Amino acid sequence: MVLLETKRLKKYFYDIRAVDGVDLQVREGELLGLIGPNGSGKSTLFDCITGIQRPTAGQILFRGRSLVGLTPDQIARRGIGRTFQVIQLFPEMSVLESMLLAAQEFEGTLLSRLFSRREEEAYERARFLLTMLGLWRMREEQAGNLSYGQQKLLDFGMALMANPSLVLLDEPASGVNPTILNTMLDHIRALNAQGLTFVVIEHNMDFIMRLCQRIVVLHHGQVLAAGPPQAIQSDTTVMQAYFGG
Ligand SMILES: Nc1ncnc2c1ncn2[C@@H]1O[C@H](COP(=O)(O)OP(=O)(O)O)[C@@H](O)[C@H]1O
Ligand SMILES: [Mg+2]
Repeated sequence: MVLLETKRLKKYFYDIRAVDGVDLQVREGELLGLIGPNGSGKSTLFDCITGIQRPTAGQILFRGRSLVGLTPDQIARRGIGRTFQVIQLFPEMSVLESMLLAAQEFEGTLLSRLFSRREEEAYERARFLLTMLGLWRMREEQAGNLSYGQQKLLDFGMALMANPSLVLLDEPASGVNPTILNTMLDHIRALNAQGLTFVVIEHNMDFIMRLCQRIVVLHHGQVLAAGPPQAIQSDTTVMQAYFGG
């Protein structure tokens, strides 16, 4: 089943064609890699899917329903979580508070927030995820005091707080040490095995090749190639896009 689909999706910033007619299909349960040189439109594609940018043209369907025109909150509530290329944390907030805030952003009505059961659920989920990520013992620590790698893990945890069915990761392994990188790899794999669908943007080729079942290559806002890791790696047009300018 197709979980997420874009059809002829375009996002122009004046004369910059950041996303220029992208047809993308993400299947339920898939672990899809999204690669391409800097400026090829990867993050902008995520911004369109999550409602941060409104597409210039084209469609975005999640479970067959259009996302275009919805707010980021509404889209999150449909079941899409994401991380950002540049980590977005409140440095003075504790690790646990950050997780609870991430849940709250997606809470429905004011009335529903009156039910303390939901707060208990959020706390339990935060505890479960922080334990999984090895951050539970640091729950009272200010987010800004964590190492960069730990902040990346926290950001990942926050994206999971609203119990999404699709998670978009924008460079989860960039700048982290090999230990954290492998931890991240294991977590994504384990969550995927439980049925969570991922789209992962990453420049670390080794990471992407080890992780993903299928890879889509963007170049100048367009899909240049798509296929299994081996095929992408031996595709000369892909290599040219990266190294040939
Ligand atoms: N908010 C914005 N305003 C203007 N131009 C933007 C904006 N966001 C991205 N761009 C431009 O769109 C193109 C694609 O950027 P981006 O999606 O960040 O690429 P990638 O994530 O693949 O490196 C770049 O030329 C970038 O400068
Ligand atoms: Mg980017």
